[in-house]
Amino acid sequence: MIKFDFNTYVKPFLDEKKYNELYSKKDEYINKLNSYDMIGWKNEIDKNIITDIEKTASYIKTNFELLVVIGIGGSYLGSFSFHKIFQKYFNDESFEVIYTGTTLSSKYLDELYDYLKDKNYCINVISKSGNTLETNITYKLLKDLLKRKYSEEEIKKRIIITTDKEKGNLRKEANDEGYKSFEIPNDIGGRYSFITPAHLLPLALNYNIKDIVDSYYDGKRFIDKAYEYAVIRKLLFDNKKIVENFCVYEESLIYFTEWLKQLFGETEGKNGVGILPISMLHTRDLHSLGQFVQEGNKIMFETFIKVKNSSHFIEYNKENLHTINNIVEDSVMKAHFMGNTPCIEIELDDLNINNISELIYFFMLSASFSGLLFKVNPFNQEGVEVYKKEIRESLNK
Ligand code: PA5
Repeated sequence: MIKFDFNTYVKPFLDEKKYNELYSKKDEYINKLNSYDMIGWKNEIDKNIITDIEKTASYIKTNFELLVVIGIGGSYLGSFSFHKIFQKYFNDESFEVIYTGTTLSSKYLDELYDYLKDKNYCINVISKSGNTLETNITYKLLKDLLKRKYSEEEIKKRIIITTDKEKGNLRKEANDEGYKSFEIPNDIGGRYSFITPAHLLPLALNYNIKDIVDSYYDGKRFIDKAYEYAVIRKLLFDNKKIVENFCVYEESLIYFTEWLKQLFGETEGKNGVGILPISMLHTRDLHSLGQFVQEGNKIMFETFIKVKNSSHFIEYNKENLHTINNIVEDSVMKAHFMGNTPCIEIELDDLNINNISELIYFFMLSASFSGLLFKVNPFNQEGVEVYKKEIRESLNK
């Protein structure tokens, strides 16, 4: 169960008339959103794709020790952050998935080589464009590593490509070499691609993806809340609250805030507008940035993702430690509110797969409404292309 508190520590900052005016345009914005062609993420995924993903995951688990996922941005953050939430902090026994392709650090890749050299692994390279520098370099280097050990025939069993149906180098390679491949649909962009093979294949190694998919679509019931969240954020922005700080009290959720930062940052940050998304892990960061939030420049509002219950009971002074964590969270919200920082609360009754999958749909829907409220196209990211082009030109000099 998910509860939204858009009132207690927020409403005093909003002009009621402006709020009612913008909220009353909900149907207009729903229609606007539905007129875009990049909203494939709202449609049901084909059941045959789910079956193919499950079969492939079972093939990987039977034949290999681990999966190396190569991808960046929207081609990795969804499944990476989801897995991080549910992985155990210590002695994790899940099927090993290494996420790479996000760095050009030689130190990191050197150590990765060393780690992989005696392992029996398979690669899933994920890129919608098939044209992303970090992904391409890492893929080439790891494929070369495979070539040192295996024949072409054997390599064919160890590479799975997830990319566009027709376009790009990776699609060409999958077709030419006969590699197993999956498609990222044309009408779904990277950061909206959670319910596509880009994320479902890596997740299928450790989770029942049918549950994830069903719960994700259950998130549709939050359409009003998603619009309301977008309206509140826009009005706060108009009120000079131009930074949104996502606050979490469970360490594993910090990766989810990385996904949120990409989702909102790439969706809204265009034409000189948009809210800057940042995140803090409490209570750790209360002892660093907490000072800024309480008494610094009042440019910020906060969205707290609270987890009400925990299945882990640790007693401290006759109190459950999780209760203490929640008391701290409530107190921090109150203190920040008193310091002139609006605080939105999203409360999950438990940290479980259903809640997180629903929340992913909620945030995607809200981010796309938000892009429309900012009068930008929620589904492009031409700014990301600028640096990619610069790099290509510099490397070709
Ligand atoms: O959300 C997006 O579209 C981007 O963040 C992309 O996912 C990212 O740039 C990686 O692109 P690609 O999947 O084409 O390698």
